[in-house]
Amino acid sequence: MDKRFTIFTYGCQMNRYDTETITGYLNQEGYESCDDPARSDLILLNTCSIRDKSEQKVFSQLGRLRKLKRSNPDLKIGVCGCFATREGEGIARKQPDVDLIFGTQNIDKLPELLKGLEGGPTYDVDPLEPEFANLAPIRRNDGLSAYVSIARGCDNFCAFCVVPHTRGPEWSKPSGLIVEEIEAAVGEGFREINLLGQNVNSYGKKVPGELTFGGLLRRLDRIDGLERIRFMTSHPQDCDKDMISAMADCEKVCEHLHLPVQSGSDEVLRRMERGYTVDEYLSKVDLFREQIPDGVLTSDVIIGFPGETDEDFEGTLRVLKKSRYDNIYMFKYSPRPGTKAQSMADQVPEEVKAERFNAVQELQREISGKLHRGLEGGVVEVMVEGPVARKASEDANCGGSGGKLVQISVVSPKFAGRSRGNHRVNFYVEGGNPRPGDVVEVKVLRGALHGLEGISPPGAVVMEEWAT
Ligand code: 5AD
Ligand code: SF4
Repeated sequence: MDKRFTIFTYGCQMNRYDTETITGYLNQEGYESCDDPARSDLILLNTCSIRDKSEQKVFSQLGRLRKLKRSNPDLKIGVCGCFATREGEGIARKQPDVDLIFGTQNIDKLPELLKGLEGGPTYDVDPLEPEFANLAPIRRNDGLSAYVSIARGCDNFCAFCVVPHTRGPEWSKPSGLIVEEIEAAVGEGFREINLLGQNVNSYGKKVPGELTFGGLLRRLDRIDGLERIRFMTSHPQDCDKDMISAMADCEKVCEHLHLPVQSGSDEVLRRMERGYTVDEYLSKVDLFREQIPDGVLTSDVIIGFPGETDEDFEGTLRVLKKSRYDNIYMFKYSPRPGTKAQSMADQVPEEVKAERFNAVQELQREISGKLHRGLEGGVVEVMVEGPVARKASEDANCGGSGGKLVQISVVSPKFAGRSRGNHRVNFYVEGGNPRPGDVVEVKVLRGALHGLEGISPPGAVVMEEWAT
């Protein structure tokens, strides 16, 4: 390998997966990964467009890279990802230092584009149908969990969302290729897969004879050597019995469902073109709770969609209370070019958005805190990621929220991992140390806002216990 590249990735997990694919292509073409931009021959920005802020980050980064280009005129700078698709050559007009622009649907043309680059700036953002004849080369980041994209694009055109404009129509990867890709990842040592798609649960619906999403989960559950299956994001309108019963039946499928509600007002949902009412959404939550009683539910919420009244907003707070989300991602509405909502009347003032945002945050903190404290005393199954450093103050004790402190042996090492419900778990270990990828039982001693703390094995608390 004679050339080096650095890639900066912004935004969602889908972008991280694309970065792994881009890295695979670049390695194939003789480029070696390098995390020092100053020593790189090619710097790529894999961009996000979901909110205005995401796009502003791209220009600030390009501004910083100008200095490097001045000191090394041979350096090539490339922009790819959603912003590249949306803005195309416009990026190079604003920032003439950019030599390479390619869209989310042109990644497999990278080898050709690199050759073109030798002759001058190269741009290609024309939407293309994905080529699903073979697996793309992929150079996965180290870790236990592998991202696997099962579908690309989205047909939904929610009124606020730029994704259908940047990632094109929905395409499901053939299930045979998905199985092949996961078997290869397991062969490389990955224990968990994270299935990705803008709308995973509409998987296969447009393809005659293809598995449904539930059918796909059942098929993947049979892969030897795989420990856990996660997926995201699910759309409420495609969340049905087929999917929930597969989640309930499949041992490897983790009991976590990310089901973005976006708003708790029927009127706002209608204008967002989400395709469900609040009651329909809550009936899916009921189905999930019924079939998967210990399941963990998370969501996305948009605050300040055009025309959102105080009453609409109250509806969102009500849905939060009814759904009892373990956690949510909250976003202030950001107008996106080319979307229907951008030109809607009654854009909500920023200060109102900020006020509502704080109210949602406060309520959700209360709910998350309560749910996590409710896990204290129980046992969760954790996949071990590795050791974590202990603070000196922890050498004496580990706090329990019920006014009790449990003393942990001074020599107990501390490890980190994730529960099936996707909680971050830090835990003390008595006895032999686990290895990354091991699955252990942890007794939860403390449920905090952002994670759990405990001890493994569950019966290992042998030290004295005292009241504070
Ligand atoms: N403004 C704010 N949030 C948005 N999202 C998508 N588009 C916008 C926008 N224009 C949020 C939605 C989606 C998540 C990935 O990002 O909540 O589920
Ligand atoms: Fe965007 Fe809606 Fe598609 Fe999700 S379902 S990617 S919010 S258009």
